[in-house]
Amino acid sequence: METRERTFLMVKPDGVQRGLIGNVISRVEQKGLKIVGLKLMKISQELATQHYGEHKGKPFYDGLINFITSAPVAAMVLEGDDAVDIVRTMIGVTDPRKAAPGTVRGDLAVFMGKNVVHGSDSLESAEREINLFFSKEEIYSYTIASEDHLYD
Ligand code: RTP
Ligand code: MG
Repeated sequence: METRERTFLMVKPDGVQRGLIGNVISRVEQKGLKIVGLKLMKISQELATQHYGEHKGKPFYDGLINFITSAPVAAMVLEGDDAVDIVRTMIGVTDPRKAAPGTVRGDLAVFMGKNVVHGSDSLESAEREINLFFSKEEIYSYTIASEDHLYD
């Protein structure tokens, strides 16, 4: 089987503290995305600045770095056709007050700075973020029985 698209999804510190790891993972599994990498970790200052480098200089940057390094996160690599777009749609827009019901942020959050999850915004970001957070050995290629029932 060819390797399908991979993306990076993370339950942020607020989501972990609120006991929402299982809720997010359930959505991912029920959708039909394959979890090929999964770990709980504390983000270092260095990793945080690499991950959110694009936002350096913005008014919310310092708060964002403080927040994302404040407590453990649950990091995931997900695989599936169009996985990047599918995950962005599933998590909803950045501001939870505007995120559609049925999305993670629309269902589970009320405040921009505590929006439960991060998902890669493009294939290029996905590749960069997967490499930042996971070593090759931490990502597993395997077949799941349901694959025949998810795709043609
Ligand atoms: P993320 O990177 O966390 O998945 O979120 P995103 O793509 O939907 O949004 P992005 O523009 O990349 O912003 C990253 C995180 O910074 C916080 N933020 N605050 N106060 C503000 O105007 C503002 N804008 C962004 C959010 O927590 C957002 O998730
Ligand atoms: Mg972003």
